[in-house]
Formats: sequence, C-alpha cells, structure tokens
Amino acid sequence: MVEKAGIDRYEIFGWDYEQINPLTLKEINWYLTWARKTGGPVLELACGTGRLLCQLAKRDLKCVGVDLSPAMLSMAQANKKRLPVEVRENISFRKANILSLSLKRKYSTIIIADNSLSVLHDREQQKACLENARNHLVNGGLLLISVSNQGLKDDKKAMSWSKPLRNPIDGKTVIRTVVINNDPLKHVKHGEYKYKVIDSRGIARNYRFPFSNPSTSLSDYLTIFREIGFKPKVYGDFNLRKSVEKSKVLCFAACKI
Ligand SMILES: C[S@@+](CC[C@H](N)C(=O)[O-])C[C@H]1O[C@@H](n2cnc3c(N)ncnc32)[C@H](O)[C@@H]1O
Repeated sequence: MVEKAGIDRYEIFGWDYEQINPLTLKEINWYLTWARKTGGPVLELACGTGRLLCQLAKRDLKCVGVDLSPAMLSMAQANKKRLPVEVRENISFRKANILSLSLKRKYSTIIIADNSLSVLHDREQQKACLENARNHLVNGGLLLISVSNQGLKDDKKAMSWSKPLRNPIDGKTVIRTVVINNDPLKHVKHGEYKYKVIDSRGIARNYRFPFSNPSTSLSDYLTIFREIGFKPKVYGDFNLRKSVEKSKVLCFAACKI
C-alpha cells in the first residue's frame, strides 16, 4: 500500500524525525531572518510537531501551524505546553489539509519546512499546495521553503538501520531504515521506510511504509514556482547563495507576484 495523503507513517512514527533530523540553530535563524522582514503572522503548512513554530513564537512572532495528522498535532500541542505561558499566546495549531486549505485570514509569511513539499505524491499536489499558499499570503508576503536537493540521478540509496530510538510516547525502542530509488525517466522517487519496534523481551514487530513522491530538481521547483505566481530566490543549506547545486538542502524565499 502506498501512503494516503502522506500521513500514515507520521501517525505512528512522526516523533522520530526530531531525533533523526533535529532542527539546527542555522535553520531556525534562516526562517527567523526572513520572517522578521515581513513580520507576522506566520503560517506553517504541514507543521508536524510544531518544533520550528515554537522557536519563532519564542522570538515574538505570531504563528499558526496546520497539519493533517492528529498524532503530529497532539505532539505540537504538547510542545506548545512546554513553552512559557506568555509565549503560548503567540502560537496555535489546527487540523487542515494543505491540498484544500481555506483559512479565514491571510498571512505575511508562509513556511513549508523540512521536505513537507516533497512528501506530497505528485506534481499536481505540489502545485495545489503552492496555490493554497499563494491564496493565503498578503500582497508583498513571503513563502519560505526548505527541501532536500535530490537531483534526478538514477540511483538507489539504502540507509543502514538507525541507532535505537526511544518513542517518547510509550517508551518503546524503535529502529528504522529507508531505501530510496530515484527513477529519472518517470521523475519519481519511490521506496520504503521499515521500522522495528522492540519489546522488553527483545521481540520485534515490523512496520513497512512504501512511498512514491515526485523527484523534483532545482529547475523543476523554479518552473513550478513561476507557474503558480511566485518569484523565488534560492539559497543552499540555509545561508549560502553560491553553491546551491551542491547543497544538501535547497531553501527558497519566494515573493508573491
Ligand atoms: C517532514 S514532516 C514536516 C515537519 C515540519 N514541517 C518540520 O519542519 O518539523 C511532514 C508533515 O507533513 C504532514 N502532511 C503530509 N501531507 C499533508 C497534507 N496533505 N496536509 C497537511 N499535512 C500533511 C505530515 O503529517 C507531517 O507532519
């Protein structure tokens, strides 16, 4: 089975990426610097556990996060509760599908962070998400995006099993691995996440999450942004302009046109 709406894995194992791929200060500062140029309010699409918005809220930005996964939203609410009371007022979360978004207000800054655009299933979903972002931005507003720089190489990547991770919700030990195949002819990357949940007797229960996502190169992104009505600036790895092609992460700061 291929993941529906991209949230099946997040419903059970969404807590893991904070451990596997923790937010860096560089990343927070990149978003913060841009968000301060337009000011709040900030909307994050597919906000996950709200980890980035909690950091922006601490620095006085008013923030709203939306996500489709109830499990991710409940972790976001828990992260919010850990903030000082006066900071909590700066932030709220709600359940919404970023493919069919209809919020009452518009935002000065919209964020799609840490590969949330590339977990969507096809180019049409990516465009629907960007159109919704455009419709919810004020004139002069900014869209900020970070995604892995995948390129379109014909390759297969198999990660080794992770170190043991601790599920913060039930305390169980979990290990995971992922296999990614890039199919340059079809512009698709597909593969599978595998998880083992190990109980106190050492017995493992296995979970598998096949996925299929568009394999989107830098030039594909630039084309899509222009088609939807954004003028993007592109950065690599949260700060550099010059070595964008070689960067592991592409960062886009796009104005509405
Ligand atoms: C890679 S995680 C993003 C994490 C978050 N942006 C961050 O930087 O920590 C992807 C998130 O996308 C959410 N998601 C996937 N499809 C979605 C959809 N159609 N609408 C809303 N959220 C969605 C998942 O539930 C998950 O929380």
